[in-house]
Amino acid sequence: MPERFPPGPPGAFTRFKGDRKLLSRNYRDYFIVDGVHVGDYEGMYLNCPDPWNIEALGLRLDMEAALLLLKRHPGYIRKVLDLGCGSGFFSLELLKTLSANKAPGELSLTLADVSPTALKLAEKRFNAFLIPPGEGETGFRPERAAPGGPGGSPGTRSLKELKVEFLPLDLRLIPENNPFRGGNHDLVVMAQILWGILERLQEILSGLGGALSPDGALLVSQHFPGEKQKYGKEVVGSPGDLKAFLRDAGFTELHSLETDRDQNHHYGGLWKFS
Ligand SMILES: C[S@@+](CC[C@H](N)C(=O)[O-])C[C@H]1O[C@@H](n2cnc3c(N)ncnc32)[C@H](O)[C@@H]1O
Repeated sequence: MPERFPPGPPGAFTRFKGDRKLLSRNYRDYFIVDGVHVGDYEGMYLNCPDPWNIEALGLRLDMEAALLLLKRHPGYIRKVLDLGCGSGFFSLELLKTLSANKAPGELSLTLADVSPTALKLAEKRFNAFLIPPGEGETGFRPERAAPGGPGGSPGTRSLKELKVEFLPLDLRLIPENNPFRGGNHDLVVMAQILWGILERLQEILSGLGGALSPDGALLVSQHFPGEKQKYGKEVVGSPGDLKAFLRDAGFTELHSLETDRDQNHHYGGLWKFS
């Protein structure tokens, strides 16, 4: 983490027993504590068994909504960038959906996250998907080719053949050093990453327009905790606020899907850059 993005209150996620420092296994302690963005995502993936209960909850409605929105994508999707991919649960759903009816290697997918440990978990998840259970002792052998392609198409598979890359990156550095400019991506995904980039949201969004191909689109999927929101409410407190940031960055909304459950609001939107 660069110095100009200091983590939140020191010790927010630690407790002590005698002279031993015990690390919390609760992901919330590494995320937002008492309205302060701690943002120790690497510590979180190292110490917590299932951040955001991703494994426990499985394919959530917001993910299904995001996949549904892809049917409205204006162009053919070959090159995909998933920003803040975490342990790759949703990224793998993207791969399964988007690789259907494509030849191996026709789709390329770049997964980026600030946490190298999250990326390792994502790589492991992708390999486990590519190597059927029982074919290997660990299921984690990147160069091993296995029969049958994702989405049911035949052929050999490995992450290399499928053109899947894992990129450690703090998105808050995009305004100074944008590795995606001119990247010609058909799809850029930002799923549930708003709070980790809030402090530089406008500059980051402005930098992402140039990452898209002419028919490319940005897929945004974001949960809003309503009354329970303590961090960043004055910057973005609703889907309307987020949409205003996207418009100011030069994006136009193509399609959206919103759901309400209890006090939780979920926004999914597909945006083009114009
Ligand atoms: C709630 S998880 C979402 C993971 C995945 N996109 C999904 O929908 O399941 C948020 C992810 O964003 C990553 N993240 C947060 N701030 C980031 C930043 N500034 N740069 C890169 N990744 C970031 C975190 O490490 C975490 O993996």
